[in-house]
Amino acid sequence: PCGVERAADGALAVGGLGVRELAEQFGTPAYVLDEGDLRARCRDFRAAFPDHHVYYAGKAFLCRAIVRVIAEEGLYLDVCTGGELAVALSAGMPPERIGFHGNNKSISELTRAVETGVGRIIVDSFDEIERLTAIARERGVRQAVLIRVTVGVEAHTHEFIATAHEDQKFGFSLAGGAAFEAALRIIDEDVLDLRGLHSHIGSQIFDTSGFEVSARRVLDLQAQIRDARGVELPELDLGGGFGIAYTTQDDPASPYDLAKRLNKIVDSECAAHELGVPHLSIEPGRAIVGPAVFTLYEVGTVKDVDGLRTYVSVDGGMSDNIRTALYGASYSATVASRASTAAPILARVVGKHCESGDIVVKDEFLPADVQPGDLLAVPGTGAYCRSMASNYNHVPRPPVVAVRDGQARVIVRRETEDDLLALDVG
Ligand code: LLP
Repeated sequence: PCGVERAADGALAVGGLGVRELAEQFGTPAYVLDEGDLRARCRDFRAAFPDHHVYYAGKAFLCRAIVRVIAEEGLYLDVCTGGELAVALSAGMPPERIGFHGNNKSISELTRAVETGVGRIIVDSFDEIERLTAIARERGVRQAVLIRVTVGVEAHTHEFIATAHEDQKFGFSLAGGAAFEAALRIIDEDVLDLRGLHSHIGSQIFDTSGFEVSARRVLDLQAQIRDARGVELPELDLGGGFGIAYTTQDDPASPYDLAKRLNKIVDSECAAHELGVPHLSIEPGRAIVGPAVFTLYEVGTVKDVDGLRTYVSVDGGMSDNIRTALYGASYSATVASRASTAAPILARVVGKHCESGDIVVKDEFLPADVQPGDLLAVPGTGAYCRSMASNYNHVPRPPVVAVRDGQARVIVRRETEDDLLALDVG
């Protein structure tokens, strides 16, 4: 992460605090959040997209302190469950700045969203249109909605996190005509206010041409809707999914590059269809919070396996970062507590869980003198690590420690064995 540097003693420091002090005070493993870096990323997106709404996708990582930062920095918030909505509201996020996603929102989730005045509900199915209509009518509310459109773009990312090809669960198909039909139905429904279309093509995407194709296709649909009903939808949400660098091989576009490309394609497509340029929104999650966090582990054992490779075991693993096991994600690791001049050896950083797929970093060169007691930092763990953490093997989930201007504070505390036992009422 940007704010991390080596102090004079060779140890990493972030926000003015050394990792050894952090480990002593808060224990390991811990997610360490560089709050200055997080805020800088929010500001960069805001500056690059000044006329747009930037929704932070809370699924990447959500807690009350994050919601407050997001709100203070002028961002909006995307939630996709009642639980995420509850966190947002309890932290004081203005409901009109919340967008509510999901392919299977329950009646109680929808009711809560309507009653609290959530700004946009992104509808995902005909069943939902029916439910939402009934809820809004009963309460005498006109609810603003967007339609999630499946644009048929094959995003070049892991299959599980690509979302806009045809054969998957999200949204209304554009090619099959469902999106057009959904738009007409909503326009004809007086208690629903169709503000625009939404598309999200996937996550951890580097090739921006996918966003361009997607924008072109939704604007084409916009023009068809205008031709059919004489209505020009005022908004367009192009979703999130902007890739970040997990290793030195990744080369993400800056928010400024992205903005330039998206604006250009939207402007030219609108001109071609003689449409007014809609108000744009985007929904970055990973690109806002991912690089702002590193996980701090302590090395427990170092094992040379038949000269093949050195296995370095840390005190966490797939319960605090499932992404390597689940998606084959790449991370890097570095000895954080000291400098070393020892020659590099090929190492694999593994966790403490009871299965061999419990890998944090598959291949990394670490100094040959890496040893028990060393602290290891794995950068780029802000997105989808704490939020997808589990209690596998009854391992308590690590805390999130926010560091800013030489001060550290716990924003999510470490789980305890009592927390784990609290649910066990048998
Ligand atoms: N908007 C919508 C509608 C989404 O479904 C998502 C992510 C985002 C925005 C934010 O995408 P981001 O900018 O963070 O890439 N667990 C996976 C990622 C799943 C993403 C799901 N939807 C992972 O660890 O890579």
